[in-house]
Amino acid sequence: MTVFPKDFLWGGAIAANQAEGAWNMDGKGTAITDVTEHGIAKNQHDKKVEPGKVYPSHEAIDFYHRYAEDLEYMAEMGFNCFRTSIAWTRIFPTGEEETPNEKGLEFYDKLFDKMLELGMEPIVTISHYETPLNLYTKYNGWESRELIPLFEKYCRVIFDRYKDKVKYWMTFNEMNNVHTIPYASAAMDLTGERSNQLRQVYQATHNMYVANALANKIAKDMMPNAHMGIMISLSQAAGYPATPKPEDVFGTLQFQRRTFISADVQIKGKYPNYVKRIWEENDVRLDITDEDLKLIAAYPSSYIAFSYYRSSVFEDGMKIYGDTGGVVGKENPYLEVSDWGWPIDPLGLRWMCNVMQDRYDCPLMIVENGLGDKDTISEDGKIHDEARAKYLTDHVKAIGEAIKDGCNIIGYTYWGPIDIVSAGTGEMKKRYGFIYVDKDNEGKGTLNRMKKDSFDTYKEIIENNGENVF
Ligand code: BG6
Repeated sequence: MTVFPKDFLWGGAIAANQAEGAWNMDGKGTAITDVTEHGIAKNQHDKKVEPGKVYPSHEAIDFYHRYAEDLEYMAEMGFNCFRTSIAWTRIFPTGEEETPNEKGLEFYDKLFDKMLELGMEPIVTISHYETPLNLYTKYNGWESRELIPLFEKYCRVIFDRYKDKVKYWMTFNEMNNVHTIPYASAAMDLTGERSNQLRQVYQATHNMYVANALANKIAKDMMPNAHMGIMISLSQAAGYPATPKPEDVFGTLQFQRRTFISADVQIKGKYPNYVKRIWEENDVRLDITDEDLKLIAAYPSSYIAFSYYRSSVFEDGMKIYGDTGGVVGKENPYLEVSDWGWPIDPLGLRWMCNVMQDRYDCPLMIVENGLGDKDTISEDGKIHDEARAKYLTDHVKAIGEAIKDGCNIIGYTYWGPIDIVSAGTGEMKKRYGFIYVDKDNEGKGTLNRMKKDSFDTYKEIIENNGENVF
């Protein structure tokens, strides 16, 4: 008996803004990440592109022009799927045009065609921290309901165009991160006192739930065989209580619910009871209509895609500070950490798979997991990234164990199979790739690609359909 199903999806994942570059080419508009100089983790950004500043997304790794070569590398590793996002601003530069930008649509035609030619199922994130900047400036992003019909229009266009090429879709990248990185997740700034900020968070996520349900509704008509998923960060939920103190244990549950609510609403189709008390006690008054609730109930998503990088430790009363990798809590003395201080915890991944399976009983896809590390070129001219190979092997093994536990896991897309810009910090030197890209934090380098040792590790795992990790 093999552990991984024979049609298991093996691949990698990137996002348009972290890889494509060509930020203003062929009619593309400015996205929120085109005005962040040092990443999104601190919610700091300019209001417009400032002359003379180096914004990492502007060139990124020039995937826009080099995608064919890059996908060939992925094919060599044996990928049968590849996850990327569509940059909303390539299709609707400000989000508000009446007609889409044909050049932008053509780019994704070529990209998906190349994937299909190489035997890779395209897996598409519709919005990955790339909302048109105009929608932030004009509406404070998803705080406003104005974005719902604009998102629907965008979905109609891309569903119509790519329905014969793309079967796996997910609406919003890590939408449960609105609490910690609202600018990236919901294209909005939080303002005013805590109760207002909470209102903004819950209103924005509500508007996104409605948009998600609408996307599911139109997908049902336009591409009945498509799989429509949600995407959440489980690094945000993998919290261990700091002690057996009941307050730490109960506090951990409350903290996890900030993530679970996204799946509760969008998979189960209704708001959970626990949220009502949070709204009441914080005087959070929301614009939620009966029609919204009916839509959410009628069009739930069919699978859960999630990212998992790390776990954290929760202590009652702790101030919750988050970044792209989840929440920065207390130290965990049992775990090693990456060069960026993220605890390495494969068992935490198995734990999260089991929790999600028990709670939602639907297919699961791990669409982000990886080690962001410094890489050095050795004297032999090669990159011996043992730590990354080990991280990969240990996490694939944890997924295998979760499958043995009974979890219905349908795919694994390692994050950043080729070095790309870090979302959190905007750095290039935080590298995840099996393929090295010659570019530094200052934006200098040849952009040449080179395989690291971990390239062969993943290739071997895929060749063996994961059986060699046990
Ligand atoms: C996830 C994001 O939060 O974490 C990715 O979906 C991001 O966009 C990834 O790149 C890793 O975070 P970072 O900050 O190391 O790039």
